[in-house]
Amino acid sequence: MDKIRITGGVPLKGTIPISGAKNAALPLMTAALLTDKPLLLSNMPRLADIVTMTKLLRQHGVEINQTDDAATFTLGEMPEGESHMRLQAENIHNLTAPYELVRTMRASVLVLGPLVARYGEAKVSLPGGCAIGTRPIDMHLKALEMMGATIELADGYVRASCKGRLKGAEIPFDKVSVGATENIMMAATLAEGTTVLTNAAREPEVCDLAECLVKMGAEIEGIGTHRLTIHGKDALHGAEHRVICDRIETGTYISAAAITRGEVELKGVDPRLLTAVIEKYEEAGVTFAETPDGMIVSGADHFKGVDAMTQPHPGFPTDMQAQFMALMSVADGASMITETIFENRFMHVPELIRMGANVNVQGRSAMVRGVPSLRGAEVMATDLRASSSLIIAALAAKGETLIHRVYHLDRGYEALEAKLTACGAQVERVA
Ligand code: UD1
Repeated sequence: MDKIRITGGVPLKGTIPISGAKNAALPLMTAALLTDKPLLLSNMPRLADIVTMTKLLRQHGVEINQTDDAATFTLGEMPEGESHMRLQAENIHNLTAPYELVRTMRASVLVLGPLVARYGEAKVSLPGGCAIGTRPIDMHLKALEMMGATIELADGYVRASCKGRLKGAEIPFDKVSVGATENIMMAATLAEGTTVLTNAAREPEVCDLAECLVKMGAEIEGIGTHRLTIHGKDALHGAEHRVICDRIETGTYISAAAITRGEVELKGVDPRLLTAVIEKYEEAGVTFAETPDGMIVSGADHFKGVDAMTQPHPGFPTDMQAQFMALMSVADGASMITETIFENRFMHVPELIRMGANVNVQGRSAMVRGVPSLRGAEVMATDLRASSSLIIAALAAKGETLIHRVYHLDRGYEALEAKLTACGAQVERVA
């Protein structure tokens, strides 16, 4: 299993191109299941999760072509140019999403809504993905039931079926869920009648999916709000769509630039997608200057400990909590970091402590008392964003850090070593 070795202490200087958003690209790929016509996606990130989704959709029968075929590109290398993908779901011959694929990536569950809506049936293994809590899919299933589907659970699989088309319904979500909003919004585009989703997620990736669905002929009102109204259509058609930039990758490099007291230009970024993140880092002492194509991030000699609480968008994202904690671990003073979205998302804490951080977890909050510096250690990546917090900590730590289980990083960070090395960091992948 690959490891990453980092020798810390080098201020990052240079330019980092930001990739297309993983969490937008994955649902966009599943949207191809809604039509027999081609869907063309550009700015596709080159990631292990995209390879998994490609395999999943291909085994359903979706024809997928990519400019740099998703099954063959090398993770970790900085590739030239943008990756494009053409997906066509003309000959779907299998309605089952098997355990081997779903267990590695929770977003696989997003095939459920589109398949039931178009074919009246789907069978999906109960999901795995990052080990950050129980992460049920009860809201997805309850909403499909409200739209007339029958749900059966057996042998670790969910089977959803309906006679004829799904029916539009009024669906109030108990919690804000990105995945449930996406799954049900897609299903509703082909349902009979109108569906109203309240307490819907309004993350930029949900909006990106909605915009693409509209290009495919869907009728959706309220994009970007908590109330989505979807008027179902008999069929959707093909479209072309460019994936939005990855705001979490952006935030991760903000943390890396800041903690090394470096200065990095992040290109291809829309700062408006990161308002809460930028405000929080500014409060801590990081400075930002907008450029025509992104922004320049500059660290400071000292950071201030500031509190943060994760919230659904437009609040501070849970996917940035671990990376922010890495920075706070070397801030002046204390910072209280509260996680309200997932119940088990402090798995990076014991690893940061191995590197000299002073963090105390009490329930959903972590008290981080800043230390003057971190030191290199052998640490274990436990989930995607926890891994990136260890990278950030290692970049600033004294000495060498060896991070095990980096496959988590390949799920969500395109060409991570290449991007960091280009800014002077001493990073290498050890097979
Ligand atoms: C998505 C993102 C993930 C991010 C998360 C929250 C993708 C591929 N992943 O995950 O990176 O961390 O949003 O911003 O886009 N819940 C239920 N029942 C359900 C569904 C969710 O109780 O049926 C709970 C979850 O356990 C969690 C909360 O709702 O506590 C939010 O989860 P959700 O927004 O659904 O996360 P994902 O869509 O899985």
